[in-house]
Amino acid sequence: MDSIRVIGGRPLSGEVAVHGAKNAVLKHMVAMLLAPGRYRLENVPGILDVDIMGEVLDHVGATCTRRESVVEVDVPESLNPEAPLELVRKMRASILILGALLARVGSARVALPGGDDFGSRPIGMHLDGLEQMGAVFELRHGVLEASAPNGLAGTDIFLEFPSVGATENLLLAAVLATGKTTIGNAAREPELADLASLLNQMGAKVDGAGTSTIEVMGVPSLSPADHKVVADRLVAGTYALAAAASGGEITVLGCDPGFLRMELRKMQAAGCDVERGDDWFSVTGPERPEPQDIATLPYPGFHTDMHPQMVAFLARATGTSLVTENVYAARFRYIGELNRMGADIQTDGQHVVVRGVEELSGCEVDGCDIRAAAALTIAGLAAEGETIVHDAEHIDRGYDGFVDTLRNLGADIDR
Ligand code: EPU
Repeated sequence: MDSIRVIGGRPLSGEVAVHGAKNAVLKHMVAMLLAPGRYRLENVPGILDVDIMGEVLDHVGATCTRRESVVEVDVPESLNPEAPLELVRKMRASILILGALLARVGSARVALPGGDDFGSRPIGMHLDGLEQMGAVFELRHGVLEASAPNGLAGTDIFLEFPSVGATENLLLAAVLATGKTTIGNAAREPELADLASLLNQMGAKVDGAGTSTIEVMGVPSLSPADHKVVADRLVAGTYALAAAASGGEITVLGCDPGFLRMELRKMQAAGCDVERGDDWFSVTGPERPEPQDIATLPYPGFHTDMHPQMVAFLARATGTSLVTENVYAARFRYIGELNRMGADIQTDGQHVVVRGVEELSGCEVDGCDIRAAAALTIAGLAAEGETIVHDAEHIDRGYDGFVDTLRNLGADIDR
């Protein structure tokens, strides 16, 4: 087990160029299963989840080669349409092969993902939508056996909630279905719009991605394409909050600040000085933030994956903040760890009550998950003394060169 050691009290300062988005590249790799041939993805982050998706693709029969920020994928004519439990357990996004393989091969066997630290995380909306398109599912021994006896046919689907994964699974299935599919109440994430852009480069006919109604006219076949992955707004936002919490300043390059509209607005309201350009923004942190009320919501609302980092920032606010988690049933494990650092945070149902304290004090904490580990590092940057974030491997799932980046900004940090 690795740890991150950080000594707080040094304001960060400098520039960071943001790498491609984890939550885009993982889906792009799955989309490549839709047509045989050779693909090239640029701006790919060196993170663990990309390696795991590489293993999923290997298992299915494709070959992934990574050279620095480029991943090349060779997809053969014939595929093994399966994702076993060991891979789905490592990474839930593996279930996205369901839509792609049903569309390309007409069948798939995917282990059913269980719950995780964020709650039960069901996939009912993925399955309902695919069923409406003609898929049939049987759950046997923990494995979903999916088939489309008469192929997939376009239809009108309206999601109960704008689930990112359900929208993507349906989009991947719809591009090769016969006729027109409409996905209403669709997720509007920039990463999803980037997926649609790759699919259109491959010859798909997708309209409206990035809005809540996506229309897809099925085509008989697709062909390979090259693509540059959209910037990771969560990485951008995490470094911005790290700099702000340290009372420093940062310029984030290569990311449209519009992707973080709500997050930057809240930072500004908390007393940060924010400047925005076309594909950059800068943030200067206050001595102590002003308290904020925040509710996480699907895009373009405040992102749930920025919630723990924001709470770490608000832990030193001059008053009480209320953060309401609306996307996940349980995303609160990091709170006990922040309280060990002297924060005063309580939960009441889905509400997180953050009573700001003047000072945090470094100690040993448990990284819990990707964003929690990032949040605890942010708290460590703002705390007095030494913080050790254990289980730092979580960071490697979503941040390429996290510790080096913070060190280059002036943090006293190592792994
Ligand atoms: N949900 C259902 N039924 C469904 C699908 C979702 O109840 O059929 C619920 C989930 O249980 C959850 C909520 O809806 O409570 C949102 O789930 P969603 O499907 O939108 O999320 P996801 O596709 O599983 C992606 C990201 C997450 C991010 C969420 C929300 C990837 C690989 N993962 O997950 O990213 O938090 O969207 O924006 O894209 C992370 O990067 O750290 C991360 C967890």
